Amino acid sequence: MPDNPYRSIERGEPGRIGWRIHYFDEVDSTQEIARELAAQGSQQGTAIIADRQTAGRGRLGRSWHSPAGANLYTTIILRPAMPLASVPQLSLVAGLAVADVLERVAPGIVGLKWPNDVWLRGRKVSGMIAEAITDKRGNLECVLLGIGINVNLTASDIPDELRERATSIRIATGRAWDRIELADSLFSLLDSRYMEALTAGFAAVRPAWERYSALTGKRVAIVDGGRRQGGIVRGIDDDGALMLDLGDKVERIVAGEVTVEGAYA
Ligand code: BTN
Repeated sequence: MPDNPYRSIERGEPGRIGWRIHYFDEVDSTQEIARELAAQGSQQGTAIIADRQTAGRGRLGRSWHSPAGANLYTTIILRPAMPLASVPQLSLVAGLAVADVLERVAPGIVGLKWPNDVWLRGRKVSGMIAEAITDKRGNLECVLLGIGINVNLTASDIPDELRERATSIRIATGRAWDRIELADSLFSLLDSRYMEALTAGFAAVRPAWERYSALTGKRVAIVDGGRRQGGIVRGIDDDGALMLDLGDKVERIVAGEVTVEGAYA
């Protein structure tokens, strides 16, 4: 493999997503490399890509299965002018960009499961995490937007405990895909969606997100800390909160783990 197989897709001026790409054969987590580069002053849009992660991280303290030679693991440094409380919207924006990429290669089977899962035929193919870095006064300094996409993972590569819930683009489409081309599409579509959300607000990208929503109209259970609520999903609002119909009222849900009745969480 060349030193940086992703060099050819670096594009745009500093500040645009993917204008500079740092590539590593192996890292603990691209989130950690991004944290160091951000502390050294790396500009917005700088992306870190690794072929393999030894300690890939998911949400809620989970690990992210990150074998070599198969998938896309990237973290993008963002420096948005937005309140800390709005950072979770960036996960939704990233999910939308991934869905846009997947719709090109696997049309008609892409779904978004609030808050941060992308599905192909109801199984998780991608997840994202938006980690906020704040200054001493608690103001947002930057966001480390991590995205993992299962690209060429085969069914036998999937650990037993994930087999019923996870998939890859290859499993869903029956052929292998070029990770560099996918990263190129991802950075380009994420750049458009991110700029749109920054300039016009999350409400501007909400209709596109809703078109992929796999939960709307479904009965779900949501667990946040010790609290569990059941209801029917009515969509998301202009801030990206899930609208859960409890029967007597519709509640805004800003965080939690969703389980869909009759499907895998
Ligand atoms: C989730 O669905 O729980 C989020 C998964 C995020 C995985 C990506 S892979 C690239 C980046 N580095 C990490 O350690 N995690 C994110």
